[in-house]
Amino acid sequence: MDLYKDKNAPIESRVKDLMSKMTIEEKIGQMIQLPAKAGIVEENFIDKLEEWHIGSFLHCTGEGAAEIQRLAEKTRLGIPVIFGIDAIHGHCFEDKGTVFPTQLALSSSWNKDIVKEMAKVTATEVRACGLHWTFSPVLCVGRDTRWGRINETFGEDQWLIGELACAAIEGYQGENLSSENSILACAKHFAGYGESTGGRDSYESEISKRKMLSLFLPPFEKAVKKAKAATLMTGYQAIDGVPATANSWLLRDIPKEGWDFKGFIVTDWNNIAALINRQSVCGNMEDAAYEGIIAGNDMMMATPEFFDSAVKFAKEGKIPEEMINDSAERILRLKFELGLFDEKRHTSPELKDAIVGKKEHWDISLEASRQSLTLLKNDNTLPLDKPKSIFLTGPCADDVVAQLGDWSFGSMQAGATDESFHKDDTITVLDALKSAANDFNYQFDYLKGADIVDSNFDETDLAAEKAANSEYTIVCIGDIISQHGEGHDRAKLELSGKQQQLLEKVKATGTKLIVLFIASKPLAISWVKENADAIICCFNPGAKGGVAIKEALFGELNPAGKLTISFPYSAGQLPVHYDRYGGWHCDNGDNYERYIDHPEAPVFSFGEGMSYTTFEYSNLKMVNSAITEGENPKAQVTVKNSGSRKGIEVVQLYINDIVSSVTTPIMNLRAYKRVELEAGESKTVELEIEFDELSIVNQKLEKFVEKGDFEVYVGPSSKREECLKAIFTY
Ligand code: GLC
Repeated sequence: MDLYKDKNAPIESRVKDLMSKMTIEEKIGQMIQLPAKAGIVEENFIDKLEEWHIGSFLHCTGEGAAEIQRLAEKTRLGIPVIFGIDAIHGHCFEDKGTVFPTQLALSSSWNKDIVKEMAKVTATEVRACGLHWTFSPVLCVGRDTRWGRINETFGEDQWLIGELACAAIEGYQGENLSSENSILACAKHFAGYGESTGGRDSYESEISKRKMLSLFLPPFEKAVKKAKAATLMTGYQAIDGVPATANSWLLRDIPKEGWDFKGFIVTDWNNIAALINRQSVCGNMEDAAYEGIIAGNDMMMATPEFFDSAVKFAKEGKIPEEMINDSAERILRLKFELGLFDEKRHTSPELKDAIVGKKEHWDISLEASRQSLTLLKNDNTLPLDKPKSIFLTGPCADDVVAQLGDWSFGSMQAGATDESFHKDDTITVLDALKSAANDFNYQFDYLKGADIVDSNFDETDLAAEKAANSEYTIVCIGDIISQHGEGHDRAKLELSGKQQQLLEKVKATGTKLIVLFIASKPLAISWVKENADAIICCFNPGAKGGVAIKEALFGELNPAGKLTISFPYSAGQLPVHYDRYGGWHCDNGDNYERYIDHPEAPVFSFGEGMSYTTFEYSNLKMVNSAITEGENPKAQVTVKNSGSRKGIEVVQLYINDIVSSVTTPIMNLRAYKRVELEAGESKTVELEIEFDELSIVNQKLEKFVEKGDFEVYVGPSSKREECLKAIFTY
C-alpha cells in the first residue's frame, strides 16, 4: 500500500509521500475551489474534476457532494475533495439545519460559551452532511453601519471580536480535527475588510500598516495563535492601494512568517479576477494568477481560469515550484488531519437525518436567542404583568427572513427560490404572541401596518385605530434581507417605508409603546429612544427568536444582553464607535457637544444594556497598582444586585493609556465577566488584563507596552460616567 494511504503513518510522512507522486498539474489542482449553486455543481465543473484535479468545492450540499467525493476517489491518486460552506450562524443552507442568531446578535450575549456551543452544533451538522469546512467566523471590525455586512461581525471592538472568534473557532474545530464533529474554521476576511471607506462593500480600506497592526490584525493573530484557526480568507478590498489578494506583507509576512500559521489561505469569491476587472492592478488572468500565488494565497475560490494560467507559467518556471508545493502541502495536511483520506471521507443519509436539526440543537439555538436580546429602554413597562390587550404590528413581526438574517435561505448563495426553507422551524414574534394569548389570557390583534420597502403599502391609520383600543402596542421595526448583505450598503440609516409613520401614529394614541428592533445592524432610531416606553434590541435573533422575545416580554427571561456596537444618530455621525480619541477641536472638558448638529455620544453605546433588576458597583481597587514587565494588572470590584430578581450583569473593564507615544483611544475594552447574582447578592469580581494587551504600535511599527500610568474604568457600559475609575502604573 502507498504510504500516504496508511492511516497509521505520521501525517507529515503521508503528505511527503503523496507530494512525491503528484504532477505539477495535480498540485495546482489542490489550489482550486469551484462553486456549486443551491448545492449543485455545474456540469462542466464536474467534467473538469479529472482534468483540473480539483481539490475543493463550495456550497455543494447533499447528494451532490457525495457524488463528487465518489468521483474524486476514482482519480489516479484518489485525493479527496474538501467541501466548504457558509455555515456562519448554523448550518443554514441545509433546509432542516439549526439556525442561530447572527454573529452580531449573538455577540450581544458577551458569552463565549454559547458562541462555542453554536459552533459545535454547526460543525456537527455540517460534518454529518459530508462537508468539512465553514467560512466562519467573521473577524471584521464593524464600525461603519452603512456597510451591508455588519450583521456578520461580532461588533465594533477588535478585542471582544478576538475573544468571541476564538470561542467559535474552538467550537468548530474541537479538540481534534479528525473527530466526526470537527470542521475547519475560517477566520475572515483577512484583514480590514469591514473598514472599507464609506461602508462601501469591497471598496478601498484606507488603513495604515500601523493601524493594521494595532487594530485590525490583533483579532486574527489571536485566532491563529490561540485558537489555531485552520484557514484564513483573503478580503476583497484593497488596503492603502494594495489589494489584499496581491499583498504579500499581509498574506506571507504577517501570518506565515510572523505567526507561524500552518493552515492555508483561501481567497474570497473570484478575488483573482477582481485584480483585473475591479481593482485593475493586473491586465490579464496570467498576471492575476501569478500575483495571487506570489502574494501567498494558497487556494483560489471561484476562479475557473486559474488552472490553465498557473500550469502554463509554472511549467515556464515563472513561479518557484516551492511556492506551489507549500500551498499544496498546507491543503493536503489538513485533509489528512480531517481524516478525509481514511474512513471520514463519506457520510450517509441516515447520519444526516439523525443529526441535522435535532431537538438538542434547537434547544441550544433557543438559549442563544435568549442571550442575544438586549433591553435598551424600560419605563417599568416590562415585564408585562397580566396585560388585558396586546396589539402587534410592524413589518418585522412575521417576516421569517428578517428574523433569520443573512446567509440563511434568503441569501443569494443558497440559491433558495422559495421561502419554504426553515419556515417550519421558525417561530416569529407573531407566532409566539398569538399562542401566548391563551396562556396569559389577553386579547390579541395583529396587523402588518407598514412595509419596509413598499411605501405604497400603508395600514398606519388602521393600525392606529387598533392601538388606541389596546393597552399595549408592540411594534416590530428594522430592516429586511434586500436592505443588507454583500453589496447592499446604505447611505441612509433612517427607518425605511412607512415604519416611522406607523410608530408616530401608534404613539399618538397614548397606548403603551413597546418596540422590538429586528434588524441586521444599528439604524437611526433616536426617535424610538425618546418616545418608546420600552425597547428590546433583537438584531436577527434566530429561528426561535419569537419564543425568546415572548419570554422576555413576560419576564420568564430577564434579558442580559449588552450592545457590541454603537447606534448612530444618523450616517453623518459615523464613525461613532466607543473607542474614540481625545482630540477634536472644541472646548476642553469632557461634557461638550462637538458637532453643532448632533450630540457627541451615540444614541445607544457599546456595552449598554438593561435588566429587570439593578446592579450597583463599588470598591474598585487594583490588586497590583504597580506592575512589572509581563505582569497582568488585576482589578477587583464589588457588584451588587440591588433589585428584586436574579439577573446577569456583564462587568466591563476598559483601559486608557494616559500618555503614549502615539494617540490611543480614551477607552479600550480589555476584560469583562458575566456575573449572575441573586436579588440582594453581592460579589467581588476580579478582572485580569493580559500584559501584552496594554501594548501600542509606535511609528516604527514596533509593538510593546510603554511605561507610564494607565486609567482603569470598570462598569456596566463604555460610558465613562457610569464607571468607577482606578489607576495602575507600569
Ligand atoms: C462571499 C463572501 C464570503 C463567503 C464567500 C463564499 O462572497 O464575501 O464571506 O464566505 O463568498 O460564499
